[in-house]
Amino acid sequence: MTAGNGSLARLEALLGADVIRTAAAELEPLQQDHRRLYQGRALALALPRTVEEVSTLLAFCHAQRIGVVPHAGNTSYCGGATPDASGTQLVLSLRRLAAIRAVDPLNYSMVAEAGCILATLQQAAAAADRFFPLSLGSEGSCQIGGNLSTNAGGLNVVRYGMTRDLVLGLEVVLPDGRLLSSLSSVRKDNTGYDLKSLFVGAEGTLGVITAASLKLFPLPRDVATAFVAVPRPQAAVELLVRLREASGDRVGSFELVPQIAIDLTTRHIPGIVAPLDRASPWYVLCELSSPRADEGLGVLLETELGRAFEAGLVTDAVLAQSERERQAFWRLRESVPTAQTRDGASLKHDVSVPVAQLPAFIEQASRWIEAQVTDAVLVAYGHVGDGNLHFNLNQAPGTPAEALQAQEAKIRRAIHDLVHDFGGSFSAEHGIGRSKVEELARYAPPVELELMQAIKRALDPHGIMNPGKVLQP
Ligand code: MLT
Ligand code: ZN
Repeated sequence: MTAGNGSLARLEALLGADVIRTAAAELEPLQQDHRRLYQGRALALALPRTVEEVSTLLAFCHAQRIGVVPHAGNTSYCGGATPDASGTQLVLSLRRLAAIRAVDPLNYSMVAEAGCILATLQQAAAAADRFFPLSLGSEGSCQIGGNLSTNAGGLNVVRYGMTRDLVLGLEVVLPDGRLLSSLSSVRKDNTGYDLKSLFVGAEGTLGVITAASLKLFPLPRDVATAFVAVPRPQAAVELLVRLREASGDRVGSFELVPQIAIDLTTRHIPGIVAPLDRASPWYVLCELSSPRADEGLGVLLETELGRAFEAGLVTDAVLAQSERERQAFWRLRESVPTAQTRDGASLKHDVSVPVAQLPAFIEQASRWIEAQVTDAVLVAYGHVGDGNLHFNLNQAPGTPAEALQAQEAKIRRAIHDLVHDFGGSFSAEHGIGRSKVEELARYAPPVELELMQAIKRALDPHGIMNPGKVLQP
């Protein structure tokens, strides 16, 4: 599709210069993705102030065949919010649609607009004595609209599920400008197809989410957090089972951290210190939480870690004695991606396998890396509680970045083929964007691809929504 200057002039006349921005300084930040993998060129930036303006905008772009790239906090790992280099695509930011429309403590629900920053949402829920459990390292800048569009995962999935599991209703502007408004806050609604679910995780390729009705939960009042040294991933998986059973399924987070992540974060992130004195090949950051203040989770966690120590599953542990110590544990974990970037070139894999299979996957994938890859160090960490592992690699000290980068395709293929053999996913939480379009075409069963293409044609017949993302054109 093309968008001559005539269309842009008409769009500016339609919505005004306050909404349609063309200044280079405003476009520049939108034209590179979070990981600096892609450099695009935007036709313009649209900053609608109301849902009606989003509707007017999309109806125009639909008629004029102008590509629209929805843009939220730009924290995508897959280039999902970056325009292509043609200079013909309109970047659509909802940062001006950022209201908290309602918080209903009695119904345990809230309605927020897509441009609302995740941390703001969390704070609004807490102010009403409720808990919105989606939690990501980027929560200070990512927008709930982007979290919905990518079905974000994060740190609390083991207990609360992915973003999809937190949605009660959505308001969506369809590619032709029509409004799908189903901001229901009922828990049960079996009236036909579950249309809202189509848009969660669609990465802006089927329409523009402008608001969401979201589930809230009781605020955790008793929280126990520990940084635990374990000898191997299998011990971590067995410890997870012990804690889930002993705590009445109060495990909120369960993260696997390798020793190299401690080395990288203490080296590159000011203020990070190793939680334990002695090194260990692996660690687990685990957190139990309960809405009951008197649950005694600290004593329970300490007791269970003692039993796990006796069983040889744990070699050392430290429980957070204060909120400050708890935050320090989490800051270490959430700093791993930044520490990797500061250390040099890195390859990222965001994969998932059934939790019980994770140790075997790590074993087989690590063996392959040792045998087939040079100039790299393995940095495998992540959300063991839900089977999602970031099987990343960094350039080895003293080696050129190009040496690792030259092996990227070979490594990606081997890791994703192995994940496929384990019945897992080659993209657990980061989505497809632009960087994994070929992977989706390779691994998704043909019938799934046919259905996705049929849905895309039905909802976006002119292909204006986020062209080149998720599905092959
Ligand atoms: C994380 O779990 O740290 C994020 O998904 C980012 C990453 O993959 O590095
Ligand atoms: Zn992650």
